Amino acid sequence: MPSSSALYPGSFDPVTNGHLDILDRSLSLFKHVTIVVAGNTSKNALFLPEERVELIREVVSDRKNVDVEYYSGLIMEYAAEKKVGAVIRGLRAASDFEYEFMMASMNKNLNSNVETVFMMTSQNLFFVSSSMIRELAYYGGDITPYVPSVVAKKVKEKLLSLAPSNNRPGGLHV
Ligand code: COA
Repeated sequence: MPSSSALYPGSFDPVTNGHLDILDRSLSLFKHVTIVVAGNTSKNALFLPEERVELIREVVSDRKNVDVEYYSGLIMEYAAEKKVGAVIRGLRAASDFEYEFMMASMNKNLNSNVETVFMMTSQNLFFVSSSMIRELAYYGGDITPYVPSVVAKKVKEKLLSLAPSNNRPGGLHV
C-alpha cells in the first residue's frame, strides 16, 4: 500500500536551510514527515542528540504534519516499528551519490518494504553541509544565510562554551 508518511533521517548537527528545503518539498509529497535525528558512528558531534531534536522542533514549530524524534538504532527498524514505507534523503552533489547508494542498498536489504526517496538539494544550497557551517562559525564567518537565526545563535553559544577563553579563534570573541 502507498505510504502517506515518510521518515527524514540525518545527523542534523546542526539543521541547515538545505535540510529545511528538502523537508518542505517532502511535505508536498507526503502527508506527514518525521525528522529522525539518528546516530552516525563515523562523526564527532557538536550538539547532543537531544539538543539537536530540541533545536529542530523549535525551527519547524510553524509547520504542520512534521514531528521530530531521536532514534539510536537502525532507521529500517524504526520504519518497521512506525509502519512507514518511505525514507527521504537529500542529494547534493555527485560526491554524495556513492555513499547514499550504498546506504539505500543496505537499507533495502534490511527492510524491503521501505523505499528511499532521493530529492535534489536546491541549487542555491547544494554546497551547504553541517560540518561546513560548524567550521565557518568557528572561524567567525557569517552562517546566517545558511541556517535559521535560532540555529546560528545556538551554534555560536555552543562553540563559545567549548572553547577555552584564552584560546579562541577570531570569530569566537565576545
Ligand atoms: N542541504 C544541506 N546539507 C545537507 C543536505 C541538504 N539538503 N542533505 C545532507 N546534507 C549534509 C549534512 O549536513 C551532512 O553534513 P556533514 O557531513 O557535514 O555533517 C551530510 O550532508 C550528510 O547528511 P546527513 O543527512 O546528516 O547524513 P549523515 O550521513 O550524517 O547521516 C544517517 C546518515 C544518520 C541517516 C545514517 O547514518 C543512519 O541512518 N544512521 C542510523 C543507523 C542506520 O540505520 N544506518 C544505515 C544502515 S547500516
